[in-house]
Amino acid sequence: MLSNHHWPWAAPLLALGAAAATTIDLTTPALKWTLTNGQGNVSVPAAVPSHAQLDLFAAGVVGDPLLGENNVHDNWVGTSNWTYTSAPIAGLAVPGGTTSYLIFDGLDTFAAVSLCNTSVASVNNQFRRWSFDVSGILAGAGCAQPVLEVAFTNAPAMAQYLADPAVPEASCAACFEAAYYYPGREFMRKEQSDFGWDWAPALSPTGIWLPARIVQLASADIHVQASTADVYRLGQQNNLPPSQSAPFVVNASIDYLGALPAGATLHASITGARGQALWSGALGNVTLGNGTIGGHTVLEGKSPALWWPVGYGAQALYNLTLSIIVPSSPSALASASKRIGFRTLILNQTPVSAAQLATGIAPGNNWHFEVNGRAVWAKGSNLVPLDAFWPRVTAGDFQELFEMAVAGNQNMLRVWASGAYLPDAAYDLADELGLMLWSELQFSDALYPTAPAFVANVLAETSQQVRRINHHPSLALWAGNNEIEYGLLRLGTNAPVALTEQYGGLFVQTLLQAVWAETRSVSYSPSSTTNGYQELDWAAGLMVERLGNVTEGSIYGSTDYYDYDATIAFNLSTYPVGRFANEFGFHSQPSYQTYAAALPPADLAFNSSGVLSRNHHYPINLTSFFSSFSSPAPPQNRTARSLQGMGELSTAAEHWLPTPRNADATQLFKAQILATQIFQAEFYRAQIAFYRRGSGRPERTMGSLYWMLNDIWAAPTWAGIERGGRWKMLHYGAKDVYAPVVVAPYYDAGTGAVEVWVTSDLWDAVAGTATVQWYDWAGRSLGGGKADLRAAVEVGAVNSTRVFAFNTADVTAFDLNTAVAVLSVEVAGGGAAYAHTHRFVAPPLSDPAVVGALVDPRLRLRHAGGSAFVVEAAALAAFVWLDHPAGVRGYWSDNGFWMLPGARTVTFTVLEDSTGGGWADEVVVDSLWTLASSD
Ligand SMILES: *[C@@H]1O[C@H](CO)[C@@H](O)[C@H](O)[C@H]1NC(C)=O
Ligand SMILES: *[C@@H]1O[C@H](CO)[C@@H](O)[C@H](O)[C@H]1NC(C)=O
Ligand SMILES: *[C@@H]1O[C@H](CO)[C@@H](O)[C@H](O)[C@H]1NC(C)=O
Ligand SMILES: *[C@@H]1O[C@H](CO)[C@@H](O)[C@H](O)[C@H]1NC(C)=O
Ligand SMILES: *[C@@H]1O[C@H](CO)[C@@H](O)[C@H](O)[C@H]1NC(C)=O
Ligand SMILES: *[C@@H]1O[C@H](CO)[C@@H](O)[C@H](O)[C@H]1NC(C)=O
Repeated sequence: MLSNHHWPWAAPLLALGAAAATTIDLTTPALKWTLTNGQGNVSVPAAVPSHAQLDLFAAGVVGDPLLGENNVHDNWVGTSNWTYTSAPIAGLAVPGGTTSYLIFDGLDTFAAVSLCNTSVASVNNQFRRWSFDVSGILAGAGCAQPVLEVAFTNAPAMAQYLADPAVPEASCAACFEAAYYYPGREFMRKEQSDFGWDWAPALSPTGIWLPARIVQLASADIHVQASTADVYRLGQQNNLPPSQSAPFVVNASIDYLGALPAGATLHASITGARGQALWSGALGNVTLGNGTIGGHTVLEGKSPALWWPVGYGAQALYNLTLSIIVPSSPSALASASKRIGFRTLILNQTPVSAAQLATGIAPGNNWHFEVNGRAVWAKGSNLVPLDAFWPRVTAGDFQELFEMAVAGNQNMLRVWASGAYLPDAAYDLADELGLMLWSELQFSDALYPTAPAFVANVLAETSQQVRRINHHPSLALWAGNNEIEYGLLRLGTNAPVALTEQYGGLFVQTLLQAVWAETRSVSYSPSSTTNGYQELDWAAGLMVERLGNVTEGSIYGSTDYYDYDATIAFNLSTYPVGRFANEFGFHSQPSYQTYAAALPPADLAFNSSGVLSRNHHYPINLTSFFSSFSSPAPPQNRTARSLQGMGELSTAAEHWLPTPRNADATQLFKAQILATQIFQAEFYRAQIAFYRRGSGRPERTMGSLYWMLNDIWAAPTWAGIERGGRWKMLHYGAKDVYAPVVVAPYYDAGTGAVEVWVTSDLWDAVAGTATVQWYDWAGRSLGGGKADLRAAVEVGAVNSTRVFAFNTADVTAFDLNTAVAVLSVEVAGGGAAYAHTHRFVAPPLSDPAVVGALVDPRLRLRHAGGSAFVVEAAALAAFVWLDHPAGVRGYWSDNGFWMLPGARTVTFTVLEDSTGGGWADEVVVDSLWTLASSD
């Protein structure tokens, strides 16, 4: 984690308006916050923003919550009540003539707020900004020394309380959830993975997790709380492709505290990156009320530079400054600035058209993203929280992770629905990088209450968050939740009507209308995985989901696919055929170095108790789950359930790869880790290639987002990037198969049929040559090259072409079981050239014939100076794996690759080095041979 970056939730471009206002920053050390538990026997200095676990760790009361088994031993912190108390607040203006507001950008989660021993409010939503008029309290008699107190009740206890059918705020007899550790998460508006997830610890953090302040206004002042801007094409309706020739509209507003004088108007000025004016003037159609002033303008005759995702054009950005002007003064009463972009970015779910049918696309509906009217193939992964504790995440952490995503050839991340809404700084970075962020309302794998108080709370949260994030051009979608519709779909006709109606009421009606009320530019999908809609009436705020009403032969929606039976991992007929793959994956072990930073030495073994306690993967039986109508008890026996997930890891690796048998325990563990990472990378590569090939098949698949990009702790999980930033083989493999033009084999082990396809996601057609060349494991050409293939290849825009087809039975010139085919493609188009290679081996690499044929590549690694290293191989080397030591953070230009005998240069991008350069002497190189030759 980098610490030298600014706090990501602060809104640096949000200019505070009125000069006469006094703002007391409640995060200042001068406030000497203390943290005290409910019993009163623990009291430590605290910070704002923070979480109780972080303050207790800083005070030495508990260990690092993410080290060893502290998450288990210290879980009393998450089930205790904690009170944050300030020192007397200095610097407040004298009461009288002022209005004072106490503003929290976020409280996590259930708290009673009091000032001067007087109750201010009780709050119950981590994701809302809370503002309270405390003028009366500050003016009161007992307030000479104003002390602020925020008393939190622990979330597990509150969830249990709210689940009680006798409690009206949230209770819901029909509600249920996929429970990981603490039950009842659906009754609270708090990060759902705080109660545990299969890749997460259950820490239930508590605290003032975002900045807070007191603002005091003189009578004629206002305070800018927030502002929003919506940029769309005139006539655009949510979810529908707009006319690309219509002018852009900018619709903007400011939310303020205080009273606006009569006759206030809202002005805007829009300037480009070099300060050139695009438009300025008074916004028309001004509305005023409920603390918001808004208006819009149509940019007739203006052609702003468009914003494009990475790989498709520049990321043009503009500054928008909003100013409130009142008749009495020539200067602005208040203003707010934000950076916007001009683009349309929609999720197109319209029916497949006659023109599309004529190109061979199967009937049904579309399910893809369109940027400025052009369909874009989404390449990416799913983002989970960067840490179990958001207050210590910096803008630099987002920058590092997002740059790694882009370095991995990704153009979209799905901001998954059971973490938190991301800070503006994250969207600002995505705007700059051209990284599209599919974003979700924070609901997941549960049926949620529809009690009026719960819904009102959710609506306030949704409106604040949608308004806050809407202006970012990287915002690609709002999805209402994670996987809930998919769960209903799996239930099929067993889905009780009441359950479907309860789901539909919240996600297909209430939240759709809440999102559409705040934006025209962003599409809404009720859930992450859907079959799209059958009916959409924008004016009526109505969407009718298709659910299971499908016609044989038609293709509709996005897919979500997991199967932990590794024996079928490479059977292509088991992969889902859909328009978009938004989740799929398999877990693997993180690196030895990442484990060593988190676990004691005795735990550095495959099935150690430390590793076991971090494997939270136990399959959830959705069928029984969705028909049970009750929360399952949280799993009690950690070891038994963890062994299941560990077993999946080792079974998969042993089924497909040589099984390491090193005598040395450390070497054995390292080899076992490598094996699980190779299997994971191969499984994802096979699926990504399958989904990419779908761009040229009737399913017209238009995206692949694998589970998952990042990790919040050192554990066996689905991540491609470990905690601390080290890339697993998955992230390198995904980078390779997400290249713009790729060649890949598609093998049916049952029939022996092999096809080789070339796929391109470019908007220009490309043409060139593809080859297949056969080698033995020593790296010698086989069969005198007579079985080699070469063909011209042409691929249209965002398309896929079959180049070769043969049957393994017809390859008779040599023993196929000991042969490796190297596939290559070289093409050019749109003024650029592209090359890619891949390989094909018919039998599993665990096959004794393969193991017997492997040749020691006698890998040698040479530091060629600077960041360059040369790998030399004396035979064909598979999964060449460069491993950098702890003490340096960074990533390789390529890793986990295959090479023929010879030399290959790779470079290492250093992010942070605490070894004074000494790391370069500690890099080691392994390969598949390491697994097979163990001793
Ligand atoms: C936490 O606070 C709640 C509400 O005030 C109370 O009912 C509960 O007993 C407290 N729990 C603990 C462990 O102090
Ligand atoms: C926006 O304004 C800020 C501050 O004036 C400036 O630093 C930045 O370069 C501008 N950015 C764009 C995209 O115009
Ligand atoms: C905005 O105001 C103009 C007249 O000033 C009017 O013609 C137009 O219909 C209004 N637009 C909306 C969306 O209210
Ligand atoms: C103010 O809010 C209330 C309640 O949400 C709503 O009924 C009313 O229409 C709003 N008024 C304006 C001017 O937006
Ligand atoms: C199912 O889909 C068909 C064709 O789109 C439609 O006519 C019918 O009304 C739908 N049935 C239901 C129950 O939604
Ligand atoms: C899932 O639950 C159903 C219903 O209880 C049961 O029939 C089925 O065997 C279970 N499946 C697994 C894999 O446990």
